[in-house]
Amino acid sequence: MFYEKKLNEELLKQNNIQFSCDFKNVKNQDIIFICVPTPNDKNNQIDLSYIKSVIDSIYKYLKNGVLLCIKSTVIPGSTLSIKKLLQKKNPKLKFHIACVPEFLKEGSALEDFLNPDRIICGVEDERSKELLTKLYNNSDKLFFTSINDAEMIKYASNSFLSLKVAFINELANLCEKSNCDINLVSLGMGLDKRIAPYFLNASIGYGGSCFPKDSTALNSFAKKKKVNLSILNASIKSNQNRVKLICKNILEFNVKNIAIFGCSFKANTDDIRYSQAILLIEELLKNNVKITLHDPKALNNAKKYFANKIAYKQDFYECFKNQELAVFLVPWSDYKNANLDKIHSLMQKPNIYDTCNLFTKENLNKFYYKKMGGGYNQW
Ligand SMILES: NC(=O)c1ccc[n+]([C@@H]2O[C@H](COP(=O)([O-])OP(=O)(O)OC[C@H]3O[C@@H](n4cnc5c(N)ncnc54)[C@H](O)[C@@H]3O)[C@@H](O)[C@H]2O)c1
Repeated sequence: MFYEKKLNEELLKQNNIQFSCDFKNVKNQDIIFICVPTPNDKNNQIDLSYIKSVIDSIYKYLKNGVLLCIKSTVIPGSTLSIKKLLQKKNPKLKFHIACVPEFLKEGSALEDFLNPDRIICGVEDERSKELLTKLYNNSDKLFFTSINDAEMIKYASNSFLSLKVAFINELANLCEKSNCDINLVSLGMGLDKRIAPYFLNASIGYGGSCFPKDSTALNSFAKKKKVNLSILNASIKSNQNRVKLICKNILEFNVKNIAIFGCSFKANTDDIRYSQAILLIEELLKNNVKITLHDPKALNNAKKYFANKIAYKQDFYECFKNQELAVFLVPWSDYKNANLDKIHSLMQKPNIYDTCNLFTKENLNKFYYKKMGGGYNQW
């Protein structure tokens, strides 16, 4: 279970939601959503075993006319393969199947759920369309497609966003060598409506349970179909290389005691799955540095992951004490309001590496600092 702002409070207010672990409860349902994990196997092919195990658990209880919606992210062809599986298990059952991919973002899941940009529904008959139109209250965000198209839209969207991130990150490397500031460059680019300002913040790279998994799954799917997605392939490699590059930048400070701020895969979540920050800490540990970690929400998950390999501080300012370098990896908004004078007085050496551009050059001028995508001082 992950931290998600407002979710607990809002769910507790509702009186029309029930939770159950008993599969028999699907018996009277008209519409069923399957939202279980779809990880990649060791060959980066999609693993449908969780969905298949749900089918195993529910096929006996489904009523005629039920609409089964696959909400999990699945590669084109998967929903129809699940349809075949259910037909085989329960040949007498009359059912409809749809692919309704999820586009919410962790960290703003509730907001995204209540106010989606679009609701993609891949259907194969009028009855499914009718049921989903009613379920979503005839929303003007509904967009009906074939099942295969809906499956592809989900992968194409995540993969395209990962391209944007990888592109701006490589551009940040160039800005650092060209006396440019990536913040201003991405702001200027984003003013063009065709480009849009989103997903243009230079960073240590994308992570989490979706982008790396989905971009590699689409890439493997394309290879299987003998289609070369060379741009996606390059962006996956670029993101993977980023960990080594940021690690090298940190080691160039030439210090032993490092305070790291942020380890979740992005701000506003405690999810550390496939977090670049976690990979980076692992890389740093190979270089015999001593790490003390702070994160507003993800510290408990990090403790389970690293155990006693690193130190942890719950208190933000405590984490700077006796440190020779502070590295900000995740743009938590709490960090933006930090008292930099206090931080300066607490550190043994006032070195800062701001990989998420939380602070301005002016605010950092007392420090020896490096900023992502341009900006450094006496360093
Ligand atoms: N996390 C996201 O931001 C996000 C966004 C969009 C789409 N997705 C997609 O949604 C799917 C789920 O991702 P997630 O991050 O929520 O995964 P998750 O691992 O956090 O949660 C999945 C849930 O499925 C349950 N589950 C697993 N196997 C089950 C089974 N056999 N029977 C019943 N329940 C079972 C687990 O208990 C868990 O509650 C994936 O396909 C993912 O790609 C995730």
